[in-house]
Amino acid sequence: MNKISAAITAVGAYVPDYVLTNKILETMVDTNDEWITSRTGIKERRILKGEGKGTSYLAIQAANNLLEKANLDPLEIDMVIVATATPDMPVASTAVYTATQIGATNAFAYDLTAACSSFLYGMSTASSYIESGRYKKVLLIGADKMSSIIDYTDRSTCIIFGDGAGAVLFEPNEDGYGFQDEILRSDGVGREFLKIDAGGSILPASHETLNNKQHTVFQDGRTVFKYAVSNMADVSEKIMTRNNLTGDDVSYLIAHQANKRIIDATAKRMKLDEDKVLINIHRYGNTTSATLPLLMSDYENQLKKGDKIIFAAFGGGFTWGSIYLKWAYNS
Ligand code: UT7
Repeated sequence: MNKISAAITAVGAYVPDYVLTNKILETMVDTNDEWITSRTGIKERRILKGEGKGTSYLAIQAANNLLEKANLDPLEIDMVIVATATPDMPVASTAVYTATQIGATNAFAYDLTAACSSFLYGMSTASSYIESGRYKKVLLIGADKMSSIIDYTDRSTCIIFGDGAGAVLFEPNEDGYGFQDEILRSDGVGREFLKIDAGGSILPASHETLNNKQHTVFQDGRTVFKYAVSNMADVSEKIMTRNNLTGDDVSYLIAHQANKRIIDATAKRMKLDEDKVLINIHRYGNTTSATLPLLMSDYENQLKKGDKIIFAAFGGGFTWGSIYLKWAYNS
């Protein structure tokens, strides 16, 4: 029997309707379209409106989109992972609720959290379950309602993030397509530079933490930027070398969309032509765990069976890594 690899066999996505443009942000904080566009590449982002709607709402829409496109019976799903930095609640898993709502009642489910690398780490987890032969259908969803943890008076963060969700199905493949290799890393030095101070076990919510605005994202952008550029490029270059891939061999880079300049620096180190670098940061901003599957969904029609894809991400923690995968189908 051939070795089992874990292939992505279906993709789904969802972004909310409301579009928060740079122009609208100009009326909210001291910023401007020119600064945001030239420094980040972002033009607009989506925001989930409506009381009572959390990350699971986004995750459910993306999963249902996948189920419909793939004509898949949810009862066949063995496992649901929701990669997220913004779970519905601190306790009671978003993935469990999502799985039940989409009808995946034979599955077990849990959340996986690693800031902007959540989905990349989730790809490793989902693939491992498939490669081991233990499960046949693993649904990996990346979903974040970043607007729920952003201070819209802080121009250093509110211009960057947006809401969204994407989902992929992993299934066994015996023809060599799917997951090939990974380099995953983390470094706790990062916790000082990108964090939410309060609401966890160190500093539980209090009147004081609310007054001090400690429940929203703090980022030392410059420091995070430096680490992101060098680390994401490092692992992407390394995974290419390890798999004897040149820039010509790689079909596409699917990289976390935090800042267009970080993506460009990574692509340069990989010696990739511009048309191989998949981009949607201008439309959605940084959607944290949703970014990689949203890219797969946006470019699904362009991806061909056998394409050699390098995935890369960098996020808070710090967490980062690179995955090499061979695309398994033509849509
Ligand atoms: O996804 C998780 C990982 N996150 C990241 O990878 C994000 C990494 N960091 C970044 O993308 C960038 O650091 C930012 C986009 C956050 C900021 O860009 P920057 O080029 O690093 O700007 P900066 O913080 O060095 O600030 C440059 C100037 C400052 O003014 P002075 O001190 O030079 O007068 C800021 O006050 O730009 C000012 N500034 C702004 N101006 C207009 C900062 N934010 C804004 C803004 N609009 N929104």
